[in-house]
Amino acid sequence: MTATHDSPTAAGSGDSATKAFRASRSTGPEVSQERVSEVVTELLAGIHATIRSKKVSYDEFQAAKKYLIDVGEGGEWPLILDVFVEHVVEDVAAEDQEGTKGSILGPYHLPDQVRLDTPATLPRRPDEKGTELLFAGHVRDTEGNPVPGAELDIWHADDEGYYSGFAPHLPDGNLRGVVVADEQGKFDIHTIEPSAYQIPTDGPTGSLIEAAGWHPWRPAHLHLMVRAPGYRTITTQLYFRGGEWLDSDVASATKPELILDPVDSGDGKHAVTYDFTLEPA
Ligand code: DHB
Ligand code: FE
Repeated sequence: MTATHDSPTAAGSGDSATKAFRASRSTGPEVSQERVSEVVTELLAGIHATIRSKKVSYDEFQAAKKYLIDVGEGGEWPLILDVFVEHVVEDVAAEDQEGTKGSILGPYHLPDQVRLDTPATLPRRPDEKGTELLFAGHVRDTEGNPVPGAELDIWHADDEGYYSGFAPHLPDGNLRGVVVADEQGKFDIHTIEPSAYQIPTDGPTGSLIEAAGWHPWRPAHLHLMVRAPGYRTITTQLYFRGGEWLDSDVASATKPELILDPVDSGDGKHAVTYDFTLEPA
C-alpha cells in the first residue's frame, strides 16, 4: 500500500484497542475459586498435551515466551484473542440464543457514538470513498411484533479497511452511530460499503500469521449491536454475498445467515434489507 496519509500501524491500533477494552471493563464478573481451578486446569492440560504430542523443544518454548511478551508490549491481546478465540466463546453463548444469529464483537467497538433518528446517514468525511449503501430493515421480537425505538449501534471499516478511533488519519466517530428505529421498528441507514479488513501485518499477530503461512484477511463486514429494553442484545456482523475471504475468514466469524444480498439501486448505489429478531431478556 502506498502511504498517502499517516499509515496506521499495528502498534497504534493495538494500543487503542487495549485502551478501549480497558475502558469498557472496569469490573469483571465474580468468579468462584472452583470455577477458576476447573477452567485453568483444563486450559493448562491442553497446553501440556500439545507440548507432549508435538515434542515442543526448549528453544520453541523460549520463543513462545518471547512472542507472548511481544503481544502484550504491542498492545495486541485484544486483536489476537478476538481473531483466534472469540468465535468459540460466541458459539457457546449462541447455544441458548434465539433470533438473529450473533457473531464476534471484535476489538473496535466504541461506546457512546452519535445517536441518529432513522432515516440516518452515518458520519463520514466529505470525500468518503466507497459504494453508497442503503441498509434498511425492521427490528421485531420473536413473535413478529415490531420493537419501536430499538437501537442499532453500527460501526464499520472505511473503503480502505480502517476503523475510526484506531487509525490516526480518520476523524473520531467516522462511520459509527447509534440509529434509533421508528415506531414500526423500521430503520434506514445510509453509509458506504466497507472493504475487506486486513489484520495489521507489522505487529505480533501479523508475524504469527506470516510465520504459519496463513492469510490476514477478514471479509468486508458491518458490525452491529441491536438492543432494546427488555430484550437480549444481539452482537453480530453482516457480510456481503460474493465478498472475498467469506470462506476463509481469519477470525472464523462468518455464518450463512449473516450474508447480505445487496442490489443495484441505480447511480452505482447499492441497497439491501435485513431484519433483526430480538428475544426477551
Ligand atoms: C479484528 C478486527 C475486526 O474488524 C474484527 O471484526 C474482528 C477482529 C482484529 O483485528 O482482531
Ligand atoms: Fe471488524
